[in-house]
Amino acid sequence: MDFKIIKPEKKLMRFFQGWDFVFVFVSFLPLFLLGIYLLFSRNIPASIESFSEIIGFFALLTSFLMIFGFFYSFRKLKTFGEKEEEIEAPLLFLLKVYVLTSVVPLLFIAIFTLLWIFPILIKEQKLLLLYIITILIGFTFLLSFFSFFSFRKKLFELFNFFRDENFVNRSIVESQIDFFNIKDYDILYEKATELYEKLFNPDFVSLLIKRGKIKTYNLNKDFVIKFLEKLGDGDEFNLELNEEYGKFFKDSKFLYVFKSDIKDGSFYVILGRKKNNFSSNEVGKMRVFSHYLSLHLRKIEYEDLQVNFFTHTVNLLVMSLEGNIVPKNHLQNVARYSNMISRELNMDEERRRRLYFAALLHDIGFLKIPVELQGIPEKYKLHPTLGAELVGEIEMWKDISEIIKYHHEAYDGSGYPEGLSGEDIPLESRIIAVAESFDALTNEYSYKSIVDENYALSDIESKAGKKYDPQVVEAFIRCFREKSNEE
Ligand SMILES: [Fe+2]
Repeated sequence: MDFKIIKPEKKLMRFFQGWDFVFVFVSFLPLFLLGIYLLFSRNIPASIESFSEIIGFFALLTSFLMIFGFFYSFRKLKTFGEKEEEIEAPLLFLLKVYVLTSVVPLLFIAIFTLLWIFPILIKEQKLLLLYIITILIGFTFLLSFFSFFSFRKKLFELFNFFRDENFVNRSIVESQIDFFNIKDYDILYEKATELYEKLFNPDFVSLLIKRGKIKTYNLNKDFVIKFLEKLGDGDEFNLELNEEYGKFFKDSKFLYVFKSDIKDGSFYVILGRKKNNFSSNEVGKMRVFSHYLSLHLRKIEYEDLQVNFFTHTVNLLVMSLEGNIVPKNHLQNVARYSNMISRELNMDEERRRRLYFAALLHDIGFLKIPVELQGIPEKYKLHPTLGAELVGEIEMWKDISEIIKYHHEAYDGSGYPEGLSGEDIPLESRIIAVAESFDALTNEYSYKSIVDENYALSDIESKAGKKYDPQVVEAFIRCFREKSNEE
């Protein structure tokens, strides 16, 4: 057998184990025995009978008080930590309970015994009884002292446990906001790996997606894929490996494998440890975290599909417009120049992408104007508004719609359809205006007579501040200079 599947452990975390438990549980016993002895033994000398009854009674009472103190602290200890308190308060509480239920009553018994019983026992030479009483009270002191310290130790352990627990839970939840904004598989893999490492201390992490990219972090890819197939059904596996098999997983002895079915491909997480198997508590959290991660992967996949759909749909539209309604290559050129300018102006990725699509579609309004009427200026001037209306129907392109609407506005306010000026015109529209004019002057398929690039540039430059935004013109000219310098 190459590996064995470990069943999840059902044990809950135990608060008391081994010696801690013994100390706490037997600390009241010597006192209890003393109480019974003093109250019921027939060997008690008559001279101390009345005292021994009082002390016996108090000894029994104290032993019960100690048990009460133990359970009372235990209950408090269990509820503590769910709230994020400081450890000082529970420590003080524990000390108070210890002093009140053990130290004070024990001191009372010890002093009473020393003052009234021991002098009589010494006088009557009943030394055996004296030793028995001393030993029993002494043991009780000792044991109660140890049990107090074992309680204190548990308290610290518990405090740390809950603090770590809260940290892991909080990190898992907070990471979701981070993950939600990630649009790239690689970045998500990187961030998720970091978190798996931070939260679960594995000796290695490997994330895999069967279709497309496979991230195996130096694991033997073919072997891992075969291994995963061998695991069979189920979405989660906790495995113990033999040495030979473990070497394929960086010498791990224990593996946790999470499998999530994403449409068209499965996503896997493999975590390995050389020592110490993952606890069921950790497995539970890894499962939650991995499920979240699979949702984010799925989201990125859908976004990729959407972008793919958009790009190809826009391509179809561009193909149908170019050469028929607008000159050949016009839309693609305008998009290319716009992209150049937006990069020169350091616009962010998202805005640049929007501008690119807007540039490809900026003349789509012509679809609503019959070809024979397109030459009439009043009709021609309708195309930005008509285009904006067409695109505005698409919820996700609402912001593109505005860019299209204002691409014939002029910087000095002499444009159409609304006569906006300066910064009131969206920057993207101002960019398309420059890009479009340049292509109209230089495109070999242009309907107008064409000029060479330098002439076109100086023509545009002469209109900076009038028809065009001077900043955009400057950026455009800079791009061209850089380009010709490179050539
Ligand atoms: Fe136009």
